[in-house]
Amino acid sequence: IKHIGILTSGGDAPGMNAAIRAIVIAAHHYKIAVFGFYAGFNGLIDDESVLLSDKAVAHIIHKGGTILKSARCPTMKTSLGIAQATSTLMKEKIDGLIVIGGDGSFTGLLALQKQWSGQVIGIPGTIDNDIDGSDFSIGFSTAINTAIEAIDKIRDTAEAFERIFIVELMGRNSGHITYNVGIACAAEQIISFENFATKNQTASEQEKLLALAKEIKLAQANRHASYIIVLAENLWQGGATALAQQLQTLANIDCTACILGHIQRGGSPVAKDRILATKLGVGAVQAMIAGKSNIMIAEQNNAVAHVALQTAIMHQQGVSNNLVQAQENILALTAQRL
Ligand code: F6P
Repeated sequence: IKHIGILTSGGDAPGMNAAIRAIVIAAHHYKIAVFGFYAGFNGLIDDESVLLSDKAVAHIIHKGGTILKSARCPTMKTSLGIAQATSTLMKEKIDGLIVIGGDGSFTGLLALQKQWSGQVIGIPGTIDNDIDGSDFSIGFSTAINTAIEAIDKIRDTAEAFERIFIVELMGRNSGHITYNVGIACAAEQIISFENFATKNQTASEQEKLLALAKEIKLAQANRHASYIIVLAENLWQGGATALAQQLQTLANIDCTACILGHIQRGGSPVAKDRILATKLGVGAVQAMIAGKSNIMIAEQNNAVAHVALQTAIMHQQGVSNNLVQAQENILALTAQRL
């Protein structure tokens, strides 16, 4: 192997720069040149890349975002896009491609692999943590810490005004951020796919709202205090704003909606993400040298593991039952003390 290509794709995640750095350092050690393609798969389609030097990746480990830029790339879903990407890889004499991204990015990688004979390796990088076969994806730990910090601040003002807040959190269709943040912030309610959507599946939206209103009123009757509901995005139609309005109309409950949004994607990566990205970046280069292809390099039980890309994209990794149970337990214990 003489040349590898790397790109960051999909929603950026803190720690992507740390992964780029590790890949470049490891590749240079083995005398391999690294081409960084810009803006996800668009860089492959438009043949826009930069030869990454040691200097280019010095002092980027602490930076959020990605020096290579990221993007979603609908063209990569077309045969023309795949053909253009393949032609760039051949023209630039790339022997292997490493993509840091989520399941959409891995799907693009698999499509590419069908047309191109080079090696392909994925590294899980998404704040959503929904990649199957990977204990944690790069960016998740930073995102939850950012959200926790923000909600702790919301708690201060909620306490001062004895207000009810509905805080909407990212995660696309998964509840990892919502569940972890909800427990860590001692949210009074977690509304996520794992509990709200699956429990009482037969209940109508109206019945679910009434049950929620009842719980809020019960808490209010027991103590005058703040009340924080964390809500997974894409779960409730219209999100936090709609839910707040509906609680007002239905039960005369005053709620303040707060959509945390892209703040969750930014910021300097926490230690856990920097270390994870460093391990996975080096692991990806070593796997490539060992001739591996069509795999995701991930961490499982603290060790670097190789997972078939096909397996990684087959299912979305769900929130563990242990975590759901932990929330149920603490809620039950809290209720007993009211
Ligand atoms: O996948 C990361 C993520 O931040 C999701 O949590 C969110 O649903 C989505 O990306 C938002 O995407 P965009 O920045 O393109 O609006």
